[in-house]
Amino acid sequence: MEYSEKVMDHFMNPRNVGEISDASGVGTVGNAKCGDIMKVYLKIENNIIEDAKFKTFGCGAAVATSSMATELVKGKTVQEALQVTNKAVMEALDGLPPVKVHCSCLAEEALHAALWDYAEKNGIVIEGLKKPVNDIEALHHHEEE
Ligand code: FES
Repeated sequence: MEYSEKVMDHFMNPRNVGEISDASGVGTVGNAKCGDIMKVYLKIENNIIEDAKFKTFGCGAAVATSSMATELVKGKTVQEALQVTNKAVMEALDGLPPVKVHCSCLAEEALHAALWDYAEKNGIVIEGLKKPVNDIEALHHHEEE
């Protein structure tokens, strides 16, 4: 399996690892097939993503894509952050092997879940943002209901 230099770099030296204690939005998603879990924290002020951090319990590609995704959204508006799709993340990393594409989807979903959480907490609607399907905490809520 071939990984680009950028993927290796972001895997070996991931950016933005950690938590934001006063995050504006937090999203936790999981992939049921591989069992990998990703958590994204966003600090949003005046509609701008001031900071982004992540924790990923997963494969190397999941680490690299969450690292790149958090890098890409920093400094962007909420609307611009929606353009940070899994495709955009993969492009920024110079590609991923086909079997690893789902890892980049996890990064996009975690980002969306964090934005969703932010929107819910603030009673706002982010146009174009859909409720995240793999949000682990949301799934738990369903089970409790
Ligand atoms: Fe599942 Fe990479 S193998 S996120």
